Amino acid sequence: MDNLIDGRRIAATIHSETVARVGQLKDSGVTPGLVFIRVGEDPASRVYVGMKERKCHDLGIHSSTLVLENDTSQSHLLGVLEEYNQDPRVHGILVQAPLPRHMDETVVYATVNPSKDVDGFHPVNVGKLMLHQPGGFLPCTPAGVHELLIRTDCPLEGAEVVVLGRGNIVGKPMASMLMQKSKNANATVTLCHSRSRNIAEHCRRADVIIAALGVPEFVTEDMIKPGAVVIDVGVNRISDPGSKTGSRLVGDIDFHAVQPKAGAITPNPGGVGPMTIAMLMRNTVIAAEQQTLDITGPDA
Ligand code: GUN
Repeated sequence: MDNLIDGRRIAATIHSETVARVGQLKDSGVTPGLVFIRVGEDPASRVYVGMKERKCHDLGIHSSTLVLENDTSQSHLLGVLEEYNQDPRVHGILVQAPLPRHMDETVVYATVNPSKDVDGFHPVNVGKLMLHQPGGFLPCTPAGVHELLIRTDCPLEGAEVVVLGRGNIVGKPMASMLMQKSKNANATVTLCHSRSRNIAEHCRRADVIIAALGVPEFVTEDMIKPGAVVIDVGVNRISDPGSKTGSRLVGDIDFHAVQPKAGAITPNPGGVGPMTIAMLMRNTVIAAEQQTLDITGPDA
């Protein structure tokens, strides 16, 4: 059934646009540079950062990764960030979450120079998104979902969109992007969360459902309006005694049951994941352009 939204193909298109911009930067003597910081040995973080590093390499973006011990003090990490904030070869800084429990993510993300905040987590960039001001960085996963919707010609103007999940990384910024008074937005956004009543009823009204709550296969077939566009942001590891590793990854959508009823749906993997990386690469190039080509930057 061909109602799949091919995130890999759309991400590849964005990468080719990014490569062209990397070429222009290099022609003017600038190699875009991105620094990854990992604290401790979270296995998923190691995999994610490895994938992002490889993509940087493929696109001609210089990247390096600093791995700090799990017991590194927060003040040491803040000192490291201050150095990268000052380093003109570093245009983007990404501190991979989750951080160890003795660190305060809010403080760490607020220490990254907003002009280098390619994750879009700094309060200045969060505020610019909320206020619909230009020049900030959009967080990569919701920006990637928005691009998927735009590039598959999903009607958003006046549409009923239900966002499931109110996290700072996806749910809140996603709702904000789609409710803006602007082209490719203007949706009527409902944000449901763990205390919402009648989530299934909200979902059944939705023209677009974006699931980012981190509950395995939460969205079932009976919650979908026929023809709805269904986007799965979830990555959940569940136990599977039948598999070699004893576990497997599933999304927040019961894909096999929902797909026949959906107008369009993201596969998982191969839907949102590649888009997150594509937006990170694009943000890094934008950061390098803003810092070097005299384009008005996020601080202006
Ligand atoms: N961990 C899970 N998602 C993200 C993300 O988008 N950025 C960072 N820095 N860490 C994450």
